[in-house]
Amino acid sequence: MKIAIASDHAAIEERQAVAAHLEAAGHEVTDMGCEPGESVDYPDYGARVAHAVAAGSAERGVLICGTGIGICMAAGKVDGIRAATVHDDFTAEMCREHNDANVMCMGARVIPTSTMLRLVDLFTTTAFGGGRHTGRVAKINALEENGASISS
Ligand code: RB5
Repeated sequence: MKIAIASDHAAIEERQAVAAHLEAAGHEVTDMGCEPGESVDYPDYGARVAHAVAAGSAERGVLICGTGIGICMAAGKVDGIRAATVHDDFTAEMCREHNDANVMCMGARVIPTSTMLRLVDLFTTTAFGGGRHTGRVAKINALEENGASISS
């Protein structure tokens, strides 16, 4: 699987460990930064990965910042992106099975690297469940077109 990965300055070592783990598992990983020594703005890196996934140059994205929250908010603003912040096995599986997430986000100040490695494995191996979830995901996608008019 082609996977784009990025982080802000809060998670450089963690990102490098996750990227190496994904490569060892046979994935084609594109590391989109940031560089060590920089203090950066996490939306820029969320956008890089989100645009790569939306454009189809990557099938999935992995993002890491301090909490996994800000970088997820940024990525989810890009059309075609369903980004999810996860912190345990259950949320990593559910973001795929129920939500068909194409970008997974984690917090380096929330979970240890060993957990991240397990969560990216779940992210890359868990299939979307389809069925009753298909229409719900379609409603998420529809918000990109008519968010103001969709009924609640
Ligand atoms: C950076 O200090 C921190 O704000 C960022 O990594 C992230 O936690 C934002 O959501």
